Amino acid sequence: MANTVTLTDNRNAKSYDFPILDGALGPSVIDISSLYKDTGMFTFDRGYTSTAMCRSSITFIDGEKGELLHRGYDIAWLAENKIFLDVVYLLLHKKLPDDLELNDFRKELKIRSFINEKMLKLFDAFPDRAHPMAVLQACIATLSTYYSRDMNYDDPKEYMELAIRLVAKLPTLAAFYYRHVMGYPIVYPDLDRGFTENFLYMMRSFPHSHVNIKPIEVKALDTLLMLHADHEQNASTTTVRTVGSTHSHPYSCISAGIGALWGHAHGGANESVIKQLEMIGSVENVDKYIKKAKDKDDPFRLMGFGHRVYKNYDPRAKVLKGLRNQLIDEIGIDSNLIKVANRIEEIALTDDYFISRNLYPNVDFNSGLILKALNIPTEMFAVMFVMGRAPGWMAQWMELKEQANVKIVRPRQLYIGPKDITPEHVGPKDVELKSRK
Ligand code: ACO
Repeated sequence: MANTVTLTDNRNAKSYDFPILDGALGPSVIDISSLYKDTGMFTFDRGYTSTAMCRSSITFIDGEKGELLHRGYDIAWLAENKIFLDVVYLLLHKKLPDDLELNDFRKELKIRSFINEKMLKLFDAFPDRAHPMAVLQACIATLSTYYSRDMNYDDPKEYMELAIRLVAKLPTLAAFYYRHVMGYPIVYPDLDRGFTENFLYMMRSFPHSHVNIKPIEVKALDTLLMLHADHEQNASTTTVRTVGSTHSHPYSCISAGIGALWGHAHGGANESVIKQLEMIGSVENVDKYIKKAKDKDDPFRLMGFGHRVYKNYDPRAKVLKGLRNQLIDEIGIDSNLIKVANRIEEIALTDDYFISRNLYPNVDFNSGLILKALNIPTEMFAVMFVMGRAPGWMAQWMELKEQANVKIVRPRQLYIGPKDITPEHVGPKDVELKSRK
């Protein structure tokens, strides 16, 4: 007999069996898809803390161990041995590329890195202080209008093209918007440069002048993008899959995902970390803010700490810490912010409040410091996250398309509002009659 879990309803002593499904790694799951049919009840799981919403073979996280695998490859190994584009290829094509494949992939991304010039007019519609994440959300939704007609979204070749286009165009859109806001001349992609270097080039270059991009800067940004490439069913990826389940345009799914990522509990945390470090200001103030973070009556939280899944050091944060130290040595980072960050980490890793709740630094704790060292404007930090996460979102969307029996995502609720208190019950027929009078 297959492994099952038995649920007993103590109100009527009835029992129901539910199958246990085993994955390749990680906790088994109880298949409760027949729960409502069998028992007339739903489950209640705020924030889906105990719910698997899909089958996936892309990314695996062991939150207790602090392990992250993409298609079976450990993130620390990938960060040490591969570049961002290898991981993009791995996520989209389900295997690491050989040299020839990587070269062809690079060329394909370069060719697709330009955007239709009509899209530049979109930037004029935004107020001067528009947040880049809101702009990016609008841009990606707009991009769907250029790739809607005559597309067959059921053809894997076509959706691979959509994925590559998205990854290729995001740096161009991000850099163009930055130049637009600053009033600087737009810089077009340089096809002789690599993916990551080209982004820094579009951000920094001016006509007839030399642009200084150090190899360590390219490496730092490239690794940072790689570390953000996918993270299984987090809030934004779940958003992408949820919108995808309605058969919406893939770019509309990505635009929704950007909206989810923007929040400071998710991808917006890297911006909040820097703002918080600047607010704390000096090492002497750290104790005061640690006390605030521990106070149950104070909503203040230490940004860059804690994670829904990791109950150990986030493996991405470990890689970023090494990178941050390398950057300090080679180009220098605002040393006061580093001092404040180090002191916070030192206290948090030894304080019982943080230890007992498994609150370790997450990927955002150091990413903000690295991006600041690269002179990326603070408001664009989450945009860097989007550039890194886009291949993961598209891989998840493509997986959804490949799977049979995908159901529209439609959770239920525990209704706690008033019962029917309508003074005179009006049925559909009555409405029709009354409106005819
Ligand atoms: N500072 C202080 N206390 C915290 C923090 C924090 N950063 N994070 C969690 N806690 C405390 C909570 O108050 C709670 O305490 P309690 O048990 O006494 O009530 C306990 O730890 C558990 O916290 P939850 O909010 O229930 O944990 P959850 O898994 O729902 O939230 C989250 C995870 C949102 C990341 C949370 O830790 C947080 O807000 N962190 C700060 C924001 C941040 O860095 N976000 C980036 C996450 S990584 C990413 O998205 C890329």
